Amino acid sequence: MKNEDLKKIQSQFNKRARNYKEYTLWIENDEIYKKCTEPLNSFVKSIECLDLGGGTGWLAAKEKNKSGRNWTVLDISDEMGAKVPKAIKFVKGDFHETPFEDNKFGFIIALSTFQYSNNLNSALKELKRILLPEGQVVIAQKFDDNYGSNKKIFKTLTTLRNPLKKQIGSSLKFKDSLKKNGLKILKQYNIKHNYKYPLDKWLSRSGTIPIQRQKEILSYLKVIPEEIKEKLNIQINDGQISYDICWGIFVCAKNIYKYPSIAIVATLIVERTINQEKYILLQKRQSLYEEPEYHDQWELPQGKLERNENIRDTAVRELFEETGLTLKYFREGEKSNNISSIKIFGVTPYFITHLEGKHNFLSIAFIVDAEGELEPQILNTKPEWISISKLKAILKSEKVFPLNSEVLQKYVDEHEER
Ligand SMILES: C[S@@+](CC[C@H](N)C(=O)[O-])C[C@H]1O[C@@H](n2cnc3c(N)ncnc32)[C@H](O)[C@@H]1O
Repeated sequence: MKNEDLKKIQSQFNKRARNYKEYTLWIENDEIYKKCTEPLNSFVKSIECLDLGGGTGWLAAKEKNKSGRNWTVLDISDEMGAKVPKAIKFVKGDFHETPFEDNKFGFIIALSTFQYSNNLNSALKELKRILLPEGQVVIAQKFDDNYGSNKKIFKTLTTLRNPLKKQIGSSLKFKDSLKKNGLKILKQYNIKHNYKYPLDKWLSRSGTIPIQRQKEILSYLKVIPEEIKEKLNIQINDGQISYDICWGIFVCAKNIYKYPSIAIVATLIVERTINQEKYILLQKRQSLYEEPEYHDQWELPQGKLERNENIRDTAVRELFEETGLTLKYFREGEKSNNISSIKIFGVTPYFITHLEGKHNFLSIAFIVDAEGELEPQILNTKPEWISISKLKAILKSEKVFPLNSEVLQKYVDEHEER
């Protein structure tokens, strides 16, 4: 990070250190503290913990009081550092380039600090470097998630109040940065809080907002139409200002796998006889799907094996989530197998691999019976019963999800052979 930018941040926080606690509403919030320190509940006491951009070290001190763990606070501001309790080690430094050796910390918390980074990728890489391979990190930030189509208002207000803050944007965008920098997201919490401040205090923020800019902020607040203020829950009355803040809290681990991982997918061919004709369940990918390249493709109900699930659990869960149906039993196909005669739960499923490098899948496709009416639990799927003749037509002339085209063709071929 450029020296002069860092100096400006340092000097702002040297001023803000005087009455930092008074202005920082999340210090009093137990929910934020609990979610930020939750992973420690399952960690041994001996790990080293780091509060990155930890300011006055209030979080480190609170946790140390409870657990007796070793905590270090790293921050660029000497005055914030001067407030760190003696029992906690304070290191002055830049979170883009810390003085710590590789793999030093078992737990790192970065709470409301990366908005001061002008190079988020390098800050995240550094964080990953100093984290133990089996360690965990929590990153908590305020995001513009609740501003919808009014993100410009969020941006203008934030920049007017603090031009040193970089725009972090939405939690969705942030998630991509985490993944891109080799951090695996274990848990994500999105929390909305309403913050209320005396207007004069909010406007001056420990004397770090010049009078001229305070006037600009007031004028800007006046031109935001009332209905938008109402929508965003910005209220100004009786000398107070209040508004909603969206926090995103990410619990992450270091992605230590050197080789591409393979997802095991339970894929389901749900058969049903309707008016003496055989149908199977297909669904069309809706435009809500994140990956636009798959929009409008037909696919089978399916999903990835999650931690602590066996393939039957996955099949039951995914089928219910995507279609509302309850899986009853696995069925033996006509002569279904392609690469082996391995039996799972007494039947021979189809095995399909799809190894592209970026997304590697092994799909285990079962023919199943299920009960109930179609009623998807999630928004982005639209299941539909498809006759075998329509399935043939779909395979010929419509788009089919790559992982499923081969298994569907095999299924159709086996029907023809009868
Ligand atoms: C909003 S405060 C948050 C402090 C603390 N995490 C908390 O929750 O109260 C942001 C902190 O980040 C620190 N900071 C900003 N940029 C930094 C950098 N490049 N390296 C280290 N600390 C930085 C500031 O000095 C400040 O103490």
